[in-house]
This record gives sequence, C-alpha cells and structure tokens, in this order.
Amino acid sequence: MTTQTVNRLVGRRILLGISAGIAAYKSAQLARLLKQAGCEVRVVMTEGAQAFITPLTLQALSGEPVRTSLLDPEAEAGMGHIELARWADVILIAPATADLMARLAQGMADDLLTTLCLASEAEKVLAPAMNQAMWRHAATRRNAERLAQDGWRLLGPASGDQACGDVGPGRMLEPEAIVAALIQAPSAAVHGQAPPSADAPARGLHVVITAGPTREPLDPVRYLSNHSSGKMGFALAAAAAELGARVSLISGPVNLPTPEGVERTDVETARQMHAASQRLAAECDIFIGCAAVADYRAEAVAEHKIKKTEGEDALTLKLIKNPDIVADIAKARDAAGGRPLVVGFAAETRDLEAYARDKLERKRLDMIVANDVSSAGLGFGADDNAALLLWRDGDGEGGANLPPQPKTELARAVIERALGCLASRPVH
Ligand code: C5P
Repeated sequence: MTTQTVNRLVGRRILLGISAGIAAYKSAQLARLLKQAGCEVRVVMTEGAQAFITPLTLQALSGEPVRTSLLDPEAEAGMGHIELARWADVILIAPATADLMARLAQGMADDLLTTLCLASEAEKVLAPAMNQAMWRHAATRRNAERLAQDGWRLLGPASGDQACGDVGPGRMLEPEAIVAALIQAPSAAVHGQAPPSADAPARGLHVVITAGPTREPLDPVRYLSNHSSGKMGFALAAAAAELGARVSLISGPVNLPTPEGVERTDVETARQMHAASQRLAAECDIFIGCAAVADYRAEAVAEHKIKKTEGEDALTLKLIKNPDIVADIAKARDAAGGRPLVVGFAAETRDLEAYARDKLERKRLDMIVANDVSSAGLGFGADDNAALLLWRDGDGEGGANLPPQPKTELARAVIERALGCLASRPVH
C-alpha cells in the first residue's frame, strides 16, 4: 500500500455492512485492512450474515460493538441508528448479496443496514457477491444499474471459481482490492450512469469487448487455437472502465485477472463468443472485436480421441469457416440504424495499411486498430504494442500512428479515439 493510500483513508469513518453471503468470511480481513489503513470502523451485520461469521469476530477486529438489530433498545440508548448514519463518511457493504441489492434498489428500510443506507448522506460503496447466474439475472442487472444511478459505487464483482462450484462473475473482490479502490477518486471503476465529466468521459456508455484466443475442439483432448494472450483486450476493458464505462468483456481461454469493475463472460469456441457477442452487443454503444478468433473449426468433433492409423503418414481434417463476429455485429448495426460503433483489429505481418483498409471496408467497421505482429517485442503476448488507427466518422476518414508503448497506454488512446468517433457520428 502506498503512502497516498494511507493518507486518504486515515481518520475516515467507515461503516462496514455485511450481508448474508459466503464471502462474509473475507469481511474480517477487510475490517482489519481498513483499521490498518487508519480508518475508524464500525460494523453492521444483517441477520443472515451472522450465520456465516460471528459479530464477536468483527467486534474484536474493529474494536467496537457490532450492531445487528434496528429495534435494539440498548444500542439505541447509546449511538442510535440515526447518529450512526450521520457518523459514517463512507458506507461500505461487502459482501452485498442479490437480496440486499434488491432491497436497496427499492429504497426499503426493513432492517438496520438498509435503514442506515436510506438515512445516511455518506459516500456509498458496495461489493456484490453472489452466484454467477444470480449476478447475470436481468433483475440483478436492473438493480445494479438503479443503484449506480442512485449514486452507489459498485466494486466488482470479480469472475472465477465460486463457492457453489460454478465459474463466472459474482465473486466478491478481494479485501485488498476493495481497500485499494476506496482510495481512488470516487469516479473510478464505477458502473456509472451519471452524466459525462472530464475524468469519466465514457460514463453512461456500455462497451463490449472480445479478447483472447478461441479454442476449437478436434476431439475430447485436442483443439486448434493461437498465441493470443488476451492482454490487449483486457487492457482495453480496464481503460474503458477507468473512463467510466460499463464494460462487458467476452474472453476466450486466457490467464489474466478480470480488471476491476468489468463484467466478464468466459467462452471457449468462436461460436460461443459469437453468441455472447450477439446477446451483449444488442444494447451496447461501442463493440470492440479484439479477440483472435479462429477462422476455422473442425467440421465434426470426434467423439473419442483420434488414434494414429498404422501405415498412414497423413491425417486429413476437414475445417469449416467460423462466423465473423465483428462483421456480423456491424451488419446488425447497419440494419438497426447506427448503434453500436464497431471497432475491429487487424494483426498483419506485411502491407499493414492496405490490409487494414480492406478489412475496414469489407467488415463495414467504424474503426480499425492495425498492428504489425512481425516486430519483435510487440503484439502477441508482449506488454507493448504499436498501432495504426484508421476510422470513419461523421467528419469523414481519419488515421493516426500510435508509436510503441505499453498496451495499457495504447488501450486508453484507442478508447479515447472510439469515444471521439462516437461523439462525431450523426446517429448513435
Ligand atoms: O479477418 P481477420 O481475422 O484478420 O479480422 C480481424 C478482426 O476481425 C478482429 O477484430 C477480430 O476480432 C475479428 N474477427 C471476428 N470473427 C472472426 C474473425 C475475426 O470477430 N471469425
């Protein structure tokens, strides 16, 4: 933790709300880290949270009595719930369950924690934690958006293995990541819908990004794939989230953590990536196809492991074309009248500009990010990249050469250019 981290949190009064999720066990560590960072911490637990972790544990770590009930005469005789609501600089709820988010989104005040949230003018932050299907459910999506509109800052959730055995988005952010996010400007990493501002020019926009390779099975143990690491797509997702957008990242198999504030959908094959893209792009503002999608898949996936045939030196596989994801999104955009702005990538080893222009036209893209993957230290798997940007917008055609730089910086430049294109389009 940096000195700057400690300074912003020193003396802050954090009311830590804990609701009934298995991630509640991590709230103990969170309380400890907040105390270490110099905060004053008071804890409020819902009734269900106490089935996962005891108030005594949190009392020992916070050094303060833990409040659990709205109608507690003894507690109300001391610091009553309205005083507690006034005391807090920040209300941080971690974990925030689907049920708690639903109650908060409705403005309910049916227990101590929800009542405090209504009564307090403190900065409000929550870290969702739930099963991936619950997080993806339309009702939870609506509640998350409503809460963001009401000024809540949503941190996470992260994606990965879940306690219930599922894999996907819904894991609570790690306590260290939550504390790190608290020191950032409140505008950062928000699923926000507030009006755009200079530091969050993408606020209110939904950006969908494909990243990484796809994996096309040949038989139960083998597949066709490529060297894409996913770094560029993940850097784009992080940059878009930092600029205030709601970001959906559709990723092939990669070994990268989900950027903060980004919703991630994991897929394997091109057809799965195509289906996820169609679903998410239907209501997005910018679609960026950064994935290295396999152009072909096996016509038939063998049911059992393909065996060597005695006396035959060659094996013939019949491959068929995969759908072109980014081109299909652009086609649907044309049919729907202009939304989303569609950005593609071109990885080439020669004639960069000619191939990129051809792809821009053929796939009917609004913008293309072209890179020369033959240069050592740039492109696939590397941390740095250089790119040629070509675009078509309301002002006509444009282009820019971005010199070699870290993918994180290049990603920001690409997102900013895409925002520029979106702003100058006649219809969006
Ligand atoms: O045709 P090519 O693969 O070179 O085009 C690259 C661009 O098209 C990238 O934006 C890539 O994500 C996208 N693409 C796609 N679906 C495919 C093939 C490529 O979206 N099947």
